[in-house]
Amino acid sequence: MTSYSLRTASPAKTRAEAVVVGVVQGPKGPAVAAGGEDVASGYGRKLRGLLATLGVTGKAGEVTRLPGSEAVSAQLVVLVGLGPEATPDAVRRAAGVAARAVPNATSVALALPADSPELVRAVTEGVILGGYTFTAYRSGAETKSPADVIVLSPIARQGAAVTAFEQAQVLAAAVATVRDWVNIPPNDLTPPVFADAVVEAAGAVEGVSVVVYDEEQLAELGCGGILAVGRGSSAPPRLVELSYSPADAVAHVALVGKGVTYDSGGLTIKPGGSMATMKSDMHGAATVVQATLVAARLGLPVRVSAYVPMAENMVSGAAVRPGDVVTHYGGTTSEVSNTDAEGRLIMADALVRATEAGPDVIIDVATLTGHMVTALGDKVTGVMGTPETVEALLSAAEVAGEPSWPMPIPEVMVERVHSSKVADLSQHDWIRWGGGLFAAAFLREFTAGLPWGHLDIAGPSWNGGGASGHLTPGGTGTAVATLVDYLRALAG
Ligand code: BES
Ligand code: MN
Ligand code: ZN
Repeated sequence: MTSYSLRTASPAKTRAEAVVVGVVQGPKGPAVAAGGEDVASGYGRKLRGLLATLGVTGKAGEVTRLPGSEAVSAQLVVLVGLGPEATPDAVRRAAGVAARAVPNATSVALALPADSPELVRAVTEGVILGGYTFTAYRSGAETKSPADVIVLSPIARQGAAVTAFEQAQVLAAAVATVRDWVNIPPNDLTPPVFADAVVEAAGAVEGVSVVVYDEEQLAELGCGGILAVGRGSSAPPRLVELSYSPADAVAHVALVGKGVTYDSGGLTIKPGGSMATMKSDMHGAATVVQATLVAARLGLPVRVSAYVPMAENMVSGAAVRPGDVVTHYGGTTSEVSNTDAEGRLIMADALVRATEAGPDVIIDVATLTGHMVTALGDKVTGVMGTPETVEALLSAAEVAGEPSWPMPIPEVMVERVHSSKVADLSQHDWIRWGGGLFAAAFLREFTAGLPWGHLDIAGPSWNGGGASGHLTPGGTGTAVATLVDYLRALAG
């Protein structure tokens, strides 16, 4: 267990094995960034030549290790590139890189730019998340992490910095848990197991209540979408509802998250290559659960009701078929024509449940469509919904440092959603273009005209490459921070 502390101490005098300093790509070459001044001065005039000899440029991702100088008590000085400017995003990434640069140090001091609460937050989130590893399934793996991580900041004694530091730890722990839940293999995270994990996590947080509906109760409720998708799996579906209801709530937000613990595509089966990462199809569910718990842990004055449908989309004699008509919770029917568009089927039931709580706004998070990945790539979340909510989510995403972009719901998609000849709605149509927008138009049918935001995280939920900045391979934990900053903004 790593312990984190926030201190004002001079980095040159900090008793840590390694001290991390930022380097910016200045107009006149690399320059040691704010926070690292006294370490830099420990090398005196030699520094400029040393950086040149080592080829230090300050570009993002760059790591250079130097032995401590006489004037620096740490054995090791680690220079991490920040890129052209020490923005909170750049600092978060650099702190993530730093976390992996000194895997064996028992104590690390971060002397990165941290002279505002935003930067203190960025350093803290970056170092925790960049050092994340998932080794539960590796035999004999020992996880190495420093015993002490010290975040140095000139404002360490100010209340706002302390709050930012503490809240960043709560947020980063929540993001790490989302990563864990996503990374757990799908044979070990079926809907019942996932529901139990949520109950356990919620039990550890004061002020959060949780209810789980099993397959029989889902049948009584009439959650036909969740049941249809879950029918092909030997692991039955679940619906988990969480509630955090503080006395001083200034708003009521309903969250809905897609919890498909594995998406084989069902009878409309996916090609093998697309199936390999589909354990991540419950990322939205994990996101809204953890965002709810963070809201409670931080005591935000916002009521949060979370609706988390969980199902495994598999193939069997009982599986939902293209051609089936599903009756959703609340009575709306939809004609299934592609069993791989399963997310919207389970979300529809949960959205209707959400409307019944009478929230001011509904936000859903889902790894909903490959079309969104085609449109925006694998690092950007697509944001749809009612204009004001979309705006508010985009601002929150900006603060959180999670790239997001607005997408439209064109009128033609509404027509297509209403084109079924047998049911109220078509779940899918075979025109591929703009499939992410069709999916959003379908979901909107279940929002009862309430203010609504939809985050399609199909791209950024999964990092198929290596570690980079604060992102590590596999599940990323994206959108927890956006939701928390959205709730913070509502709280005012
Ligand atoms: N879970 C997938 C979406 C997805 C794709 C997430 C790639 C992450 C990466 C979803 O259930 C799905 O299969 N969507 C289909 C929709 C189509 C059938 C309309 C898709 O994207 O092809
Ligand atoms: Mn699918
Ligand atoms: Zn899916």
